[in-house]
Amino acid sequence: MATRQLLVAPPEALLRPLFIPNRLLLGPGPSNLAPRVLVAGGQQMIGHMHKEMFQIMDDIKQGIQYVFQTKNPLTLAISGSGHCALEAALFNILEPGDPFLVGVNGIWGQRAADIGERIGARVHPMIKDPGNHYTLQELEEALAQHKPVLLFLTQGESSSGVLQPLDGYGELCHRYNCLLLVDSVASLCGTPIYMDQQGIDVLYSGSQKVLNSPPGTSLISFSDKAKNRIYTRKTKPVSFYLDMKWLANIWGCDGKPRIYHHTTPVVSLYSLRESLALIAEQGLENSWRQHREVTAYLHGRLQGLGLQLFVKDPALRLPTVTAVAVPAGYDWRDIVNYVMDHFDIEITGGLGPSMGKVLRIGLLGCNATRENVDRVIRALQEALQRCSRNKL
Ligand SMILES: Cc1ncc(COP(=O)(O)O)c(C=O)c1O
Repeated sequence: MATRQLLVAPPEALLRPLFIPNRLLLGPGPSNLAPRVLVAGGQQMIGHMHKEMFQIMDDIKQGIQYVFQTKNPLTLAISGSGHCALEAALFNILEPGDPFLVGVNGIWGQRAADIGERIGARVHPMIKDPGNHYTLQELEEALAQHKPVLLFLTQGESSSGVLQPLDGYGELCHRYNCLLLVDSVASLCGTPIYMDQQGIDVLYSGSQKVLNSPPGTSLISFSDKAKNRIYTRKTKPVSFYLDMKWLANIWGCDGKPRIYHHTTPVVSLYSLRESLALIAEQGLENSWRQHREVTAYLHGRLQGLGLQLFVKDPALRLPTVTAVAVPAGYDWRDIVNYVMDHFDIEITGGLGPSMGKVLRIGLLGCNATRENVDRVIRALQEALQRCSRNKL
């Protein structure tokens, strides 16, 4: 028997049943889980080192190679959200003092620059107002000036709704001996990306957007050039948890017997495998088409309400997350709260540099349907009638 008295009582809150409201998540992510993903995540645990688990991990690797369109052997899932994949990329590629060029046209570039500074890299941010993208010419000038070892770009800038073109960017970087790192957290499976053909050296994405999986795992792949850099580093990466040589081993990428590194999130990996299976069944091109068509329908309906899309050039609008300029005479919070309180639908305001400027609506994976567009438009229409500050 214990000899001491408990000073902290069981919390009242935990003695009440868990309550989860039924919400339609039409923000920039996370999205609702696909029904089959929900079922997969309800299965019993097995050990993280069991052979069946290694088979699931191997299936996931192949799924990532498919959605990234890569044959890179160093392809795996990270036990952590999108930020963790970004850290895995930067911790493993950069060493202190390395010049690092970062496209900062929204919050994700800001985060990449921040992590680069923590590593002690010489960070060169290319700052642009949210809503803009980077041209090949601009990048060529910056590559020539700073001679970076790595360039960071965000394909789907979810804080501003911009789709960064990628054709030609890898080739350009390689001419300047620079590796190309791309964030596709908000765009993967919603718009084309061809890792090998576009010469992308490091690509990462998240589980909770178009893949309709729970947050907490992410996808990453390294080209042979990037892998070579990792294996010839002079210093160890600052993170043991994200050391790619260890992760390559537990993910069966180095041809050696797998040894324990950390306990992988077994159940989350069931969900991730099921998400990738759903995309494999649907086909990438069908998924891209679905997002393009349903988001074009959303854009038409938003303009029908008199709203302005934040990204002016239609070719640069992301087919997953749409940024709408906050209409004059409204506070974005009133609109977001109205839609949540009266319709149980999540849409969000801006983030980082786009905060206060935009509302964001995401159509991600199984949420990308015309029915959901009609629902959110009805909610917005009513919110616009009720929330105008000009009437006060
Ligand atoms: C483009 C982009 N990159 C990175 C992230 C960060 O991912 P996470 O929140 O899973 O860490 C997000 C999340 O919204 C994102 O949209």
